[in-house]
Amino acid sequence: MTAPIAVALDAPDLETAARWATLVTPHVSTVKVGLELYLRYGPDVVASVRGASRVQVFLDLKLHDIPATVRGAARAVARLKPSYLTVHAAGGPAMIRAAVEAVPATRIAAVTVLTSLSEADLTALGLAGPAPDAVRRLAALAVEAGAQALVCSPQEAAAVRTEVGPDITLITPGVRPAGSANQDQARVATPEDALAAGADLLVIGRPITAAPDPGAAAAAIAAALRKSAGTT
Ligand code: C5P
Repeated sequence: MTAPIAVALDAPDLETAARWATLVTPHVSTVKVGLELYLRYGPDVVASVRGASRVQVFLDLKLHDIPATVRGAARAVARLKPSYLTVHAAGGPAMIRAAVEAVPATRIAAVTVLTSLSEADLTALGLAGPAPDAVRRLAALAVEAGAQALVCSPQEAAAVRTEVGPDITLITPGVRPAGSANQDQARVATPEDALAAGADLLVIGRPITAAPDPGAAAAAIAAALRKSAGTT
């Protein structure tokens, strides 16, 4: 069994992304393709990172537009068969529902409040805070509109889980194994703590991809998770 980890393939070029994917797929369930890689190389990037493997693809395009446009965009990527596709919850219930209906075989994952936004930013945007309240509000709205997954920080996972119940997939970035550098992530949790807080899928990038051996780094985190879950 592979670990519930989505490796963020934030690579400078397609060859590097494909190489990282090949190295980590024996150990993790999912690889994440972000906006930069997708816009630079187009939809073919998905086939390149998938290779001959059965790894799940998380297409992190964070769609946010009027419902008809998001419906069309979601339909356009449906043939790539991503397991997850992100949209911004702030696009509203009709937009979220349009995405859900457009790609029935894909889990629509709603992004609540970007973790890059400060409380002052929320006020300037006119979004009633504090941030944890806005996250819970947008999470409930997204699930009501049919989203099957939510992206939130590990610190928010327990509160969001209480809000939306057991059936929603909670996806958490900001995960750092004990002892690894935080880089630009401010509020981090270890993989074990993120799972204990209720996360279902951990987004991990640089602790794996910047390691001398990304395959070994992924294997080590996967082993630590199995150990903490008591399955080894
Ligand atoms: O390298 P690192 O583990 O920080 O990568 C995290 C990934 O998760 C990146 O692709 C980043 O864009 C994404 N992400 C994040 N924080 C969020 C949402 C997404 O770091 N709140």
